[in-house]
Amino acid sequence: MSNKRIVSGMRPTGKLHLGHFHGVLANWRELQEEYECFFFAADWHSLTTEYDNTGAILENIREMVLDWLAFGVDPAKSVIFRQSLVPQHAELNLILSMITPVSWLERNPTFKEMQDNLDAKDLSTFGFLGYPVLMAADIILYRAAKVPVGHDQLPHLEITREIARRFNYLYREVFPEPAALLTETPKVLGLDGRKMSKSYGNSIYLSETAEETSKKIMSMVTDTQRVRRSDPGEPDRCVAFNLHRLYVPDDERAEIVESCRGATIGCVDCKKILARHLVETLAPFRAKRVELAARPELVDEILAEGSDRAAREATVTMTDVRDAIRL
Ligand code: TRP
Ligand code: SF4
Repeated sequence: MSNKRIVSGMRPTGKLHLGHFHGVLANWRELQEEYECFFFAADWHSLTTEYDNTGAILENIREMVLDWLAFGVDPAKSVIFRQSLVPQHAELNLILSMITPVSWLERNPTFKEMQDNLDAKDLSTFGFLGYPVLMAADIILYRAAKVPVGHDQLPHLEITREIARRFNYLYREVFPEPAALLTETPKVLGLDGRKMSKSYGNSIYLSETAEETSKKIMSMVTDTQRVRRSDPGEPDRCVAFNLHRLYVPDDERAEIVESCRGATIGCVDCKKILARHLVETLAPFRAKRVELAARPELVDEILAEGSDRAAREATVTMTDVRDAIRL
């Protein structure tokens, strides 16, 4: 069974959007049918950048986990937990930090990039440099075989493997080397045509109302070369059409392509069609979210129970770790 084990975490940044759904949640939902999955809120990882702004973390966990639950991550199938409720992550992080050369962390491309991008914040901290060590601890604590991550996380996963290998070499074979599980996911563009991202303010949130979503769709950029209604448009250049591909049924979409190129449909009408399908598809999940959110204890209960389950697994590994290093 343990070779069918998966671990993945998400930093609690708050409410999730369509990019998270197609990029992560849709994938998690499938994986839990086939694998033993551990999904967690990486709240200690949030501290690496939000150490001076911790007030929103608890609320962000709640909103994020509500999105997970409403959109199909199932606590009956997967272990859903909170990193900071399983202190073994911190213990293993400490031990791994002893055997991880600083040079491995300094050459991590994500580290350099983030330090440059978030230059308003002082990220020259010990904890930020050690981000990949904590991530390695998250993963190998459960002896996971596979880790579903995006391309941006591959350097981190490579460091995880190197750390696992080094531990096994220095002491004895305790950890399998986890492999990345890269799944092709559709690219989701935001309202302005850039990648959908909270920080761009161009997102459609899973938790918003049908009205809010429809309004946003009507403001979405289309084919910028189509100036007048009488100009032919090109769906392949159209930002909104990126969502038509995900939400409008094939036959109806084929008609739209033709009408757009023949200038027999206007963008307003075309986006109304999109909004209708999008809102209809999301409706049952959103209804479920409203239902779940009305039970104020629910998320905490699920996280407490999941964290107990996770801690039981973690205890077994840590006994082995302490034994291997003779402590
Ligand atoms: N670094 C991941 C991200 O930013 C979050 C994360 C923390 C994670 N620990 C993990 C992902 C362990 C997979 C496995 O998205
Ligand atoms: Fe895009 Fe539809 Fe307008 Fe064509 S008609 S440019 S597909 S919104």
